[in-house]
Parts: sequence; C-alpha cells; structure tokens
Amino acid sequence: MTDESPDAADMRRQPWRLVPATSDDAAGLTALDLALVRDGRGMVISEEQVRSEAAEAERLATLTEAAPNGTICLLAKVDADTVGAAELRVLSPRRCAHVGLLSLGVHPDWQGKGLGRALMVELIGHARAHSLRRLELCVRADNLRAIALYESLGFITEGVRRGFIALDDGGFADDLLMARWLPERDREDCPLADLGDRVTRS
Ligand SMILES: CC(C)(COP(=O)(O)OP(=O)(O)OC[C@H]1O[C@@H](n2cnc3c(N)ncnc32)[C@H](O)[C@@H]1OP(=O)(O)O)[C@@H](O)C(=O)NCCC(=O)NCCS
Repeated sequence: MTDESPDAADMRRQPWRLVPATSDDAAGLTALDLALVRDGRGMVISEEQVRSEAAEAERLATLTEAAPNGTICLLAKVDADTVGAAELRVLSPRRCAHVGLLSLGVHPDWQGKGLGRALMVELIGHARAHSLRRLELCVRADNLRAIALYESLGFITEGVRRGFIALDDGGFADDLLMARWLPERDREDCPLADLGDRVTRS
C-alpha cells in the first residue's frame, strides 16, 4: 500500500525523463525547434531563425552559468532524443528577481500525451524551490491548447498584445501575457494563494 496520489504514480510511468540541459544538448534542442517550427502550430519564429547548433551550445553554456538564480532549461528525453523543452529565465533587475519568464515546446509526435503538463509542473516546482513569486509567459491568442494548459495550472490572462503577430496571409494575430503568483516558500498567505494551491493538485 502507498499513500502516493494516482497522478504522481502515473507521471513516473511515463516513457520520458526530465533533465536539466547542458551545452551537450544543443543538437537535440536545435532539432526540436526545427520540428516545432516546421509543424507551425503555436510558433512565432520561422525556420531560418532557429538557432544553429553552435549558437545553441553557446546559449546553453551561458544559461547553465546562471543556474544558481533559478534559471533553467529542462529537457524531456526519450532514450537519446530530446522530445520536449521548457525554460525558466529569472529576470536580472534586482526589483524583478522574483519573476520567472517561461517558455515551452513539445515535439509534434509527443504532443497530447501529458508531457507539456509534466514539464510545466516540474518548472513550477523548481520556481517555488528558488523562492520565485511570479511566473509569466506569452502565448498566441489562437493557441488554445497551450492556453488551456496554462489556465489549468493557475495562469490568468493579464494582457492582450493586439495584432502582435503578423500572419502569412497578411492578417495579424493577438498575443496574450499570462501570469500566476506563487506562494512564499513555506507560506500560503500570498495574493492569489488559491492559484498556488492548484499546482499542487495538478
Ligand atoms: C502547447 C504544448 C506545449 C502542450 O504540450 P502537450 O504535451 O501537447 O500537452 P499535454 O498533453 O500535457 O496536455 C496539457 C493540456 O493541454 C490541453 N490540451 C491538450 N490537447 C488539447 C487539444 N487538442 N485542445 C485543447 N486543449 C488541449 C489540455 O488542457 C491538457 O490538459 P489535460 O492534461 O487535462 O488533458 C504543445 O502542444 C506544443 O509544444 N505545441 C507547439 C508549441 C507551442 O505551442 N508552445 C507553447 C508556446 S506558448
């Protein structure tokens, strides 16, 4: 008998493992970005803007150096393949050092299997462990799957950047700023504490 929740047991049965990226992961991340851009859904950059392996290695080396402040690139791997990535960047101005900016991508072949949620839950736990108080992200207003995921994890829409994204057909799409508050580590008496609770239940 175990008192572990069914969710926690399910997460452990998944075929992926979640690991922090190192500069050795540059090729895998570049391949993941290319697959996401070619698929198109939810993405803003185009294929020629995907970072080269060398540029990605350099970026990851810098990011790893920033690790003590909570900044992290978390990868989902299946065997040697990188099938998902989530990044948390802690802002550097001293008065914003409690804020983390998130980004997330799951390989098209692995979408809809719970991996995006697993990466987000892990990153939120990491943010709490580093005493961050506010998490934010940007998402295209037409990316309903991502928005549903973020809302289920307690993020709310704080703002709309109207016409922020230029579409191939000459039109424009809106972009949302979403954010959630985290309770103080060991304390739940923060604004929006109810949102903090939702993560532990997810
Ligand atoms: C958005 C994305 C990260 C979600 O990851 P995922 O692994 O596909 O998502 P999950 O399987 O963990 O599903 C998480 C939630 O997404 C939502 N979702 C999944 N499939 C959906 C669909 N077809 N329609 C609407 N919502 C859907 C549900 O809320 C789901 O919650 P559930 O666990 O209660 O079912 C992933 O689809 C992706 O990388 N898309 C392309 C790039 C992108 O959009 N990145 C985000 C930019 S902000």
